[in-house]
Amino acid sequence: QDIRLWGGRFADGPSEALEKLSASVHFDWRLAPYDIAGSRAHARVLHKAGLLTDGELRQMTEGLDRLERDVADGTFTGTVADEDVHTALERGLLERLGPDLGGKLRAGRSRNDQVATLFRMYLRDHARIIAGLLADLQEALVGLAEAHPDVAMPGRTHLQHAQPVLFAHHVLAHAQALSRDAERLRQWDARTAVSPYGSGALAGSSLGLDPEAVAADLGFEHGSSGNSIDGTASRDFVAEFAFITAMTGVDISKIAEEIILWNTKEFSFVTLHDAFSTGSSIMPQKKNPDIAELARGKSGRLIGNLTGLLATLKALPLAYNRDLQEDKEPVFDSCDQLEMLLPAFTGMLATLTVHRERLAELAPAGFSLATDIAEWLVRRGVPFRVAHEVAGECVKVCEREGIELHELSDEQFAAISPHLGPDVREVLTVDGALAARDGRGGTAPSAVAVQFAEVRRDLAAQ
Ligand code: ARG
Repeated sequence: QDIRLWGGRFADGPSEALEKLSASVHFDWRLAPYDIAGSRAHARVLHKAGLLTDGELRQMTEGLDRLERDVADGTFTGTVADEDVHTALERGLLERLGPDLGGKLRAGRSRNDQVATLFRMYLRDHARIIAGLLADLQEALVGLAEAHPDVAMPGRTHLQHAQPVLFAHHVLAHAQALSRDAERLRQWDARTAVSPYGSGALAGSSLGLDPEAVAADLGFEHGSSGNSIDGTASRDFVAEFAFITAMTGVDISKIAEEIILWNTKEFSFVTLHDAFSTGSSIMPQKKNPDIAELARGKSGRLIGNLTGLLATLKALPLAYNRDLQEDKEPVFDSCDQLEMLLPAFTGMLATLTVHRERLAELAPAGFSLATDIAEWLVRRGVPFRVAHEVAGECVKVCEREGIELHELSDEQFAAISPHLGPDVREVLTVDGALAARDGRGGTAPSAVAVQFAEVRRDLAAQ
């Protein structure tokens, strides 16, 4: 039996080469549960339009239930000859209900509006899964910060020592970025809650079906597509999803890069748990941060998925074009990769050991309190331009003498500038420098406490 959905006008069947090229069932099979849900909703509007009797609707629904069970337990699967998931499931329904009833479901719908709808449903579900995993990662970051509330570390710009910051402040900066990724997912979800079902191939249906009822049935909070051409042809929801997952990957890669550095002998800021590190096949002493490296690597792959997809979409004429079959694999991959990466990454962060003494020891290194001298002078009325010069002079003397800023003698301070009295040493401690930055968003313990509260509030709302 010919299972193609389009055999009528053809005298010959498809070539083997075409069949192979055309097949998507090996990757779109994951849409099967959504396809069946769509069919159930479609059967109901066919019934409402008087195109299925009460009895037919009941049988149809039972047939779909049976098919759903057979798909779930693997009794029924698609084959290459089915071309795609939609064709395979139509065959499954025909096998279960016979050609007369089974053949009625296709009225008023097309694979074009089906696939556009099911793809949205799939991605919305996975947006929720990813948001949940992201929340776990945020929890791990907040937990790491909370476990080290008073540890100072060297804050860096250009990867050079800049100013001391609280370790918690630094870690919460990563949590902030991830909060925005989670927020992007929520906003994307609201924009994607529109159902193209009922758009048909592109022009809508002449059968008096009710797309709004299908939309409500399938959980699309914002109803059905306002334009059937746009409904079947638009894939910006896919590109945006690919961007958000790529951005999330990039944000994670930035944490990953720091973990890789922090875990080196030279930094020695952290030690990874054995369960979240790997060894070397030749060097017995090695303990490698593979999870962080894979995270860094996978971010490249997520970016590739986004750019590849945009290239596919570029300059496509309206409405549906078969090019669009290429839209699924990249974002399915983005979902798979993130869903695999996030739990491992979270586990790595939740179990690492922080070497607080090492962090604290390096916090004032590299003359990172020089800004505090300058700001101390400013508070005494010295113009910042002069204050900056004076503090720079202090650094120069220290470098020459091989000493730290607080080790400058009263005479040395006075020689550099008459404004520099011995009480400048008040601000030449890490604790003093931290505590002084108590404005909103700053690194003072009191300001970081506010950041904890805000991240916690965001997480609760997520
Ligand atoms: N498998 C196709 C896709 O994923 C849907 C089928 C549409 N095919 C067609 N000839 N109109 O985009």
